[in-house]
Amino acid sequence: MKQDQRFPNLHILDHPLIQHKLTHMRDRDTSTRTFRELLREITLLMGYEITRNLPLTTLRIETPLQSLDAPVIAGKKMVVVPVLRAGIGMSDGLLELVPSARVGHIGVYRDPDTHRPVEYLVRLPDLAERHFILCDPMLATGNSAVHAVDVLKKRGVGDDQIVFLALVAAPEGVQVFQDAHPNVKVYVASLDERLNEHAYIVPGLGDAGDRLFGTK
Ligand code: URA
Repeated sequence: MKQDQRFPNLHILDHPLIQHKLTHMRDRDTSTRTFRELLREITLLMGYEITRNLPLTTLRIETPLQSLDAPVIAGKKMVVVPVLRAGIGMSDGLLELVPSARVGHIGVYRDPDTHRPVEYLVRLPDLAERHFILCDPMLATGNSAVHAVDVLKKRGVGDDQIVFLALVAAPEGVQVFQDAHPNVKVYVASLDERLNEHAYIVPGLGDAGDRLFGTK
C-alpha cells in the first residue's frame, strides 16, 4: 500500500496483480466483457485489503476433535453502496467477499455543463451500527463522491464508519474530497495525473459506465 504526501487519507493499493489488471482495463481495445471481469477481480483484491482490519471476536464451535473459540468477524454489519451506475461493477466483487452485506444505492449523474452531481435515487438499509463501503470506479471531480458521503452523514453515519473505494482518482478530485471529508478514508488502485477540460481522468480509462455496460 502506497501513500501520497498531499493526501493523508488516500491509500493507493498498488499490488502487482491490481496494477496488471488495471493496465488491461485502461487499454481502449479491451472488450466490455473483459473490462467487467477485470473490475470484479480488482475489486476482490482491493476488498481483501480494505477489510484487513475488521474487528474479530470468537465463536465457540465444535470441530470433529474438540471445542474451539474460533475467530469470526465482530459487531457491525457491512453495507456496500455503489454510486450508480459504474459503482455496480465494484459492488458485485465486494458482495462475493461479504455475501451477507446489505446493499444501498445512491444514484447521481453528472450535469454535463456544470459537472455538478444531480441526485436521482437514494435507497439505503437500516443505518444503525454498520460499516459502509461506498464504491465508484472513477474519483474524478470528487463532487459525486463528496455528495455520496454527505448522503450518509446527513443520516447520522460517522466518518469512521465509511470508506470510499475507487479504482482511479485524479488529484483534483481527491483534494475536493479531502477538503469536504478529511476523516473518511479513500482507497484507490491508482492516482492518475490530472483531469482534462471535460472532467475526464487522464490517462484514465475513459467512461467507466460506458465501458462496463457497453453503452456510448
Ligand atoms: N467518469 C468516468 O467514467 N471517467 C472519467 O474519466 C471521469 C469520470
